Amino acid sequence: MDIKKLQHGEWSSSFAFILAATGSAVGLGNIWKFPYITGENGGGAFVIVYLLCVGLMGVPIMMAEIMMGHRGKQNPVDTMNTLLKEAGADKSWHYLGWMGIVAGFLILSYYSVIAGWALAYVVKAFTGSFSGSGSAEIKELFDNFIASPVQLIFWHTLFMLATMLIVARGINNGLEKAVRFLMPGLFVLLILLVGYAMTMTSYAQGIYFLFNPDFSKLTFNSVLTAMGHAFFTLSLGMGAIMVYGSYLPSDVSIAKTSILIAVADTVVALLAGIIVFPIVFSNGLHPDSGPGLIFQTLPIAFGNMTGGWLFGILFFVMLVFAALSSSISLIEPAVAWLVENQRMSREKACIWAGLTAWLLGFATIFSFNIGSGIKIFDRNFFQLLDYLTANLMLPIGGFFIAVFAGWIMQHQHSEQELKMPDRQSYRIWKFLVCYVSPAAVFLIFLHVVGVL
Ligand code: PFF
Repeated sequence: MDIKKLQHGEWSSSFAFILAATGSAVGLGNIWKFPYITGENGGGAFVIVYLLCVGLMGVPIMMAEIMMGHRGKQNPVDTMNTLLKEAGADKSWHYLGWMGIVAGFLILSYYSVIAGWALAYVVKAFTGSFSGSGSAEIKELFDNFIASPVQLIFWHTLFMLATMLIVARGINNGLEKAVRFLMPGLFVLLILLVGYAMTMTSYAQGIYFLFNPDFSKLTFNSVLTAMGHAFFTLSLGMGAIMVYGSYLPSDVSIAKTSILIAVADTVVALLAGIIVFPIVFSNGLHPDSGPGLIFQTLPIAFGNMTGGWLFGILFFVMLVFAALSSSISLIEPAVAWLVENQRMSREKACIWAGLTAWLLGFATIFSFNIGSGIKIFDRNFFQLLDYLTANLMLPIGGFFIAVFAGWIMQHQHSEQELKMPDRQSYRIWKFLVCYVSPAAVFLIFLHVVGVL
């Protein structure tokens, strides 16, 4: 075990960890999903509930995941094994690590397909496919694109290869180097695009929509959607942040970094909203257009505005950057397990893990075209995977992580790892992780199984 721990890598600094964990959190969830679910749930009031969920549930569970990873110093499966032995807990707790690895594969398989769309749209933007097009043409462009398995397979393959190449190079030369480049790039692109959105005629309307809380539009369902999204967007509940925490140098404050990551993730989501809604309103589009909001509506805007060519390219490049810094964290738990537990080389582990997720991705691809008629529980394969992972596996994983950290681990161990500035802060965390977070997750769960 100790040899495994010794072989285990470490981020070169706490800053590298913050970049990597923020990179994992910031992804399609922020730029693609957050604007459309905010649009569907009425804007400002939804945003307030989402912020509360990030604070009350996201931050404490993130602290728990990082803390557990840092104590176990291995991949999620072996980390759980070490921690359960230390706590004298039941052996079945190690399934929590397994569930994370499986969830990572499942999410990556469809995440890479959608990220592949973003890659394809960079090229479409570059070649001027959007210029002068109206909504019907843009919709046709999108429909034709997803109707072609060959095109989707091509872009999915390219994105998966990029993910595998980065991860194969290891923690310091691969993941760390990539996020050092991707994250500042993402930040610069975001600021440029916010500047662009500010020149839109409907900038104020977009901002009003995002920040004006109209609680009459808030349903119990929106509250639960906001909670579920807090999980997905912070990469919680599946061991991604746990394995990143296992590479954390010892002198880092887990509480401070968790808050910083949650704030950065939230800021990016809000900036994405600030970019998307003015464009939507300025072009007479609807904020509640659903998952197609970015791919089917923004190109209309980009195709008809001055400078839209350049900003269209920038927008989709930004989406690819964000997706890439998340996909590397989706594959890392499995790769770490193959390296540490199965004694595989990192390169070989990346090939196996990447190949598996790549093949699984075909099912998602076919669910948009030749297999769209195949329904399981009334859902096509893509919808089923999304439902299974985001609605079930992540909340269940998060629930058990909170329970393990709060109720099973010994106080002195969690306190020693968290290194809180005072006893009071530790007690607040403990209260949140023992009671508030599990209760909130339990509510989501009741919602997704249809009890509520
Ligand atoms: N947080 C990522 C996003 O918002 O796109 C998605 C994600 C990455 C979820 C890693 C879960 C995970 F472990």
